[in-house]
Amino acid sequence: MNNEMKLWGGRFTEKTAASVEAFTASIHYDCRLFRQDIAGSRAHAKMLVRQGLITAEEGARIDRGLAEIEQEIEQGVFVFKPELEDIHMNIEKALVDKIGPAGARLHTARSRNDQINLDLRLYLREETARLVELLAGVRGSFVKLARRYLGAVMPGYTHLQRAQPVLISHHMLAYYEMFGRDQERLRDCAKRINVLPLGAAALAGTGLPIDREFVAAELGFPAVSANSMDTVGDRDFAVEFVSACVLIQLHLSRLSEELVLWSSSEFGFVELADSFCTGSSIMPQKKNPDIPELIRGKSGRVVGNLVALLTLLKGLPLTYNRDLQEDKEPVFDTLDTVSRGLAISAELLANMKFNTARLEDATQTGYMTATDLADYLVMKNVPFRQAHAIVGQIVAFCVKKKKELIELGLDELRQFSAAIDADVFAVLTVKGSVDSRRSTGGTSIVRVKEALEQAERELGM
Ligand code: ARG
Repeated sequence: MNNEMKLWGGRFTEKTAASVEAFTASIHYDCRLFRQDIAGSRAHAKMLVRQGLITAEEGARIDRGLAEIEQEIEQGVFVFKPELEDIHMNIEKALVDKIGPAGARLHTARSRNDQINLDLRLYLREETARLVELLAGVRGSFVKLARRYLGAVMPGYTHLQRAQPVLISHHMLAYYEMFGRDQERLRDCAKRINVLPLGAAALAGTGLPIDREFVAAELGFPAVSANSMDTVGDRDFAVEFVSACVLIQLHLSRLSEELVLWSSSEFGFVELADSFCTGSSIMPQKKNPDIPELIRGKSGRVVGNLVALLTLLKGLPLTYNRDLQEDKEPVFDTLDTVSRGLAISAELLANMKFNTARLEDATQTGYMTATDLADYLVMKNVPFRQAHAIVGQIVAFCVKKKKELIELGLDELRQFSAAIDADVFAVLTVKGSVDSRRSTGGTSIVRVKEALEQAERELGM
């Protein structure tokens, strides 16, 4: 492309090298910001008219031209040109070609430095809201599972060793809480996204009489950025957004790890729907949990994206530097990966069944009511440390005799402590153990019911 055709070509005497055009272009990914770029430009043009910087007629032509370009892009007939570098110049050039001299006035009192910041903020503002909705979907799947299996027990684990019996619903609601914090983080991050950067211009503001508050109101920003230099170099909001997404991804990955384990024949705790699994090309018997495996696997790229973004910003002098163009791919990839992961996880959960008989069986072994026995002794006034030692000896005795705690007779138990009476058997059952955990946030049916009802209210279910 000749430099006269370039929007910044004036001071150049030589034509840009083709390799440079290819190297600097970002249009192949920032084209996804076209709606935001156009919305920003339309608001900007409206302000320019109000401020007398362009005529009402020019403003109207710009507005119509931009609306047409938006339609052309949506219909897939617009041709993006890499030699025009980015979304801003592709659209501006098309506008000038379409409406003539009026188009050349659009970039008055504006720089691509504040423009790209605006586009990204507008985009992430919408996307945070969409992610919050997707998170609500996943949380809803957990609430439905918690409701469906209310009362059913399963082993709770620490160190991946059977620890204490819990309700399946309690386990499901643990994820409900995790993904709730993710929603909060996104909502919080949205507050800092939702600040108008436009008007910072290249870095120092502008001498032209603009009205930033008007543009902010037009675009629905409750605030205008305070310092023009900070504004054009700021990508903190993108880091916050990706960080919030990384935690979502980690939560999905931890869930996925459990689903991979639980769906194995070793555990046999859940049955994933056939329609959500795939087979092996060689082993006819295989039914593989590829979805959770892929989600787990995709954590690497999402964490990598955060590291890429942090590294990108480290050591950047104020204000805008072209390095900042490298922010978009990690942001977009994170968004795509996490939103697809959320959507498919919600579906996977909705189509998953717990094997309640197997889960209940699993709670019968592994001395999982040992803590209950220790607590029982505490209630009989035995100091906890002593109670712990006594129950430890009882468990060792069980291991030797190949018996579970509930299978011991009262005489056998009393060899270890005279504080043990016939009422001990109530606490040694799984149901007794679960029911006893009524502390706030505990796994007893009363607490879990309350938590479930609260969750259903929150989600309007
Ligand atoms: N494509 C650029 C980016 O993504 C837009 C801003 C370019 N500004 C400039 N002075 N070259 O950051």
